[in-house]
Amino acid sequence: MRSPTSRQVALQALTEIHTGSRANAVLAAFLGDQGRGLSERDRAFVTELVQGTTRMRRAVDHLLRPFITRKLDPDVSSAVRMGAYQLHYLRTPAHAAVNDTVAAAPRRAKGLVNAVLRKVADIDPQWPSEATQFSYPDWIWNLFLETWGPEGRASLISMNTPERPSPRPDGYVQGQASRWVSEAVDDASPDGGTIVDLCAAPGGKATACGAAWSEIWANEIDPARATALREVADNYRPEIKVVVSDGTNTGFNDHLAHAVLVDAPCSGLGALGRRSDARWHISQEAITRLTGTQNALLEEALRILRPHGVLTYSVCTVTQEETCDVAQAFHERHQELKSVELQGRHWRTHCDGGLVLPHDHQTDGMAVFQWQREE
Ligand SMILES: C[S@@+](CC[C@H](N)C(=O)[O-])C[C@H]1O[C@@H](n2cnc3c(N)ncnc32)[C@H](O)[C@@H]1O
Repeated sequence: MRSPTSRQVALQALTEIHTGSRANAVLAAFLGDQGRGLSERDRAFVTELVQGTTRMRRAVDHLLRPFITRKLDPDVSSAVRMGAYQLHYLRTPAHAAVNDTVAAAPRRAKGLVNAVLRKVADIDPQWPSEATQFSYPDWIWNLFLETWGPEGRASLISMNTPERPSPRPDGYVQGQASRWVSEAVDDASPDGGTIVDLCAAPGGKATACGAAWSEIWANEIDPARATALREVADNYRPEIKVVVSDGTNTGFNDHLAHAVLVDAPCSGLGALGRRSDARWHISQEAITRLTGTQNALLEEALRILRPHGVLTYSVCTVTQEETCDVAQAFHERHQELKSVELQGRHWRTHCDGGLVLPHDHQTDGMAVFQWQREE
């Protein structure tokens, strides 16, 4: 049996994503399994086709709309989207984009895919809105522009060409903004001691802790993610102790830790580049629900923190609600805390904390706040 071509693998992956599976998980499964027969270059091409087509779905659908008159099956829809993405974003020569996509398309729809792609190849796109052109839901586009003005626009555009995270010296692949959070945690507690990471999976930040920490607890609510966390810890920091519990209600003793990190579940609106399908799943309502969890995690973190210990709150999002609003309300409730000034010139001052917008350094958008407990 012949191995599948890159486009066949990409098309199968896109069809699964179309029916609701998460892009990063599907890609990992395909490239670790069916993708095994592919060269390194082909795997990179599959990744580009899948992530790019998923990310640019709204823009691509706008290009296709005039030529599609009925609802298409997921595999056929995925084929025309993938073809249009190659034509308009990868600038693949029309004959290659069309012929090779038709070759990968389901047999019953080859004629339709061929006809649609030949027409799409010839159009000069006219965009009804920038949200369509840059392929974001209107609410995300509007939220960024209302919150950040032209910088919000620049952030969104930069998340369409995301950072390729590189390996740390120990080999773990991690984005730069996440490394800056770990650096901030280390810098604020030069004497180390015991640290609790309340929301730790998959373990990027816990394993990046500096050498001064004598005890590292990594807590995670989701058992499957905790298993992945244990594997990462075994590979990069075997002394880490993994705990599975709700970080808003843990069994850690009062005043156990010299430092607590709350790298909280969030809307992820600063990490839309890294998660190509996330923009199509997140809802505005979810943000309000998440702030409830973020508040509760901070309260639990404070219970665990020793006097003079440092609490770090970080989120890979740039919404006002999940950054300043959560941080300010928490600080107002707890006058025993004083803000710690962040080191590192990459952080913009953001309320009492720091922020990087995605276009600042071509990283994830990230916000971080730190407080020291005075008593
Ligand atoms: C932003 S991710 C953490 C990333 C991690 N710190 C790293 O650097 O690799 C947030 C994590 O919090 C977990 N989580 C969500 N709600 C939680 C809760 N109530 N208690 C503990 N963990 C929670 C999620 O399952 C997810 O793994």
